[in-house]
Amino acid sequence: MVVGDRIGCGPVAEPVIAVVGGGQLARMMAPAAGELGVHLRVLVEARGGSADQVVVDTPVGAASDEAAVRALVRPADGPAADVLTFEHEHVPNDLLADLIDSGVPVHPGPDALRHAQDKIVMRERLTALGVPCPRWAPLPRDPAEGAEALGTFLAAVGGSAVVKTSRGGYDGKGVRVVTAPDGGPDLVEDWFAGVAAGGPQLLVEEKVPFVRELAVLVARRASGEVRTWPVVESVQRDGVCSEVVAPAPGLDDATAHRAREIAVTIAEGLGVTGVLAVELFEVASDDGPRLLVNELAMRPHNSGHWTIDGSVTSQFEQHLRAVLDLLSATPARRRAGPSWPMCSGPLSTTPPTPSAPSSVSSRTPA
Ligand SMILES: Nc1ncnc2c1ncn2[C@@H]1O[C@H](COP(=O)(O)OP(=O)(O)OP(=O)(O)O)[C@@H](O)[C@H]1O
Ligand SMILES: [Mg+2]
Repeated sequence: MVVGDRIGCGPVAEPVIAVVGGGQLARMMAPAAGELGVHLRVLVEARGGSADQVVVDTPVGAASDEAAVRALVRPADGPAADVLTFEHEHVPNDLLADLIDSGVPVHPGPDALRHAQDKIVMRERLTALGVPCPRWAPLPRDPAEGAEALGTFLAAVGGSAVVKTSRGGYDGKGVRVVTAPDGGPDLVEDWFAGVAAGGPQLLVEEKVPFVRELAVLVARRASGEVRTWPVVESVQRDGVCSEVVAPAPGLDDATAHRAREIAVTIAEGLGVTGVLAVELFEVASDDGPRLLVNELAMRPHNSGHWTIDGSVTSQFEQHLRAVLDLLSATPARRRAGPSWPMCSGPLSTTPPTPSAPSSVSSRTPA
């Protein structure tokens, strides 16, 4: 018998999901795609990278290469993609808008994505939506005006603030703490020079005296259904997320509910499709814990890797379902009551015990 003639061995029509970016987030979509019966086509930066090692269909090209992205969704020698999605947000929005105009579904769409690409756009929109954020201000592009505005902001918030590049930051690389006694605007003089030379604009935020950092993931389908996962605590070391504890230990129900409400408000308000990660600061107050939004990511996120083993539906499966507008599956934790260690890496300082929440050490991009 010819092997290819056996029942189930012939070609099977599968939906095709095109993914921009060949890092580990795209790689971790592969098992979920296999189980769902989805064909992944991933635009990888180079041969031998993380996703290229496990995904079969991996054209090589840069996310900024218009021809490469167009060929990803409409290849000369293969089926057109049913949807285009991403493992990072660094994709030209004009091109995405153009692809939508030509009939390609893009999830999340550029109107949502720009809030994860630009922290000034994100802060403006969240403020308009009434979502709680740290006090913040955009800094004028002109270096002298920018320095003056920063000085005024520092005085208003008590002498210590966080200056950020609005675009392109990751792993804390676009984040600098600035204190008035140490020189204030002088500490970001080189960044002002970068802005003047055409670099991304800067913004400043109050330095939030947070008790801890939390994250909440939500998945939203194009047709509107939203599902959230339990809120987690995330621990950053040197600007990098190094540990995630799920669910966040000791988080009271009302605060957890509020965190999930914030995530749903943002997902719906911004029209996000796919997985949205909302990074939060928990701040102590006389009225109980307060939550402020730090930033957004519109894709699977390293605060959600625990869902691979710890949740009925992983963030990767849910992302693929959501961008195809398939009925979502339950994001509930697999076990009620005490949870268990999923893995502990060299950065974990709190070895999980059988009665502790799940803890994942992570070095993946946030
Ligand atoms: N306003 C703030 N107040 C206090 N700490 C802050 C503030 N903003 C950022 N941080 C700290 O810096 C870290 C990195 O900031 P942020 O998430 O904005 O930067 P990023 O480089 O874009 O991060 P990521 O790696 O998550 O993409 C935060 O997780 C937090 O620990
Ligand atoms: Mg962050």
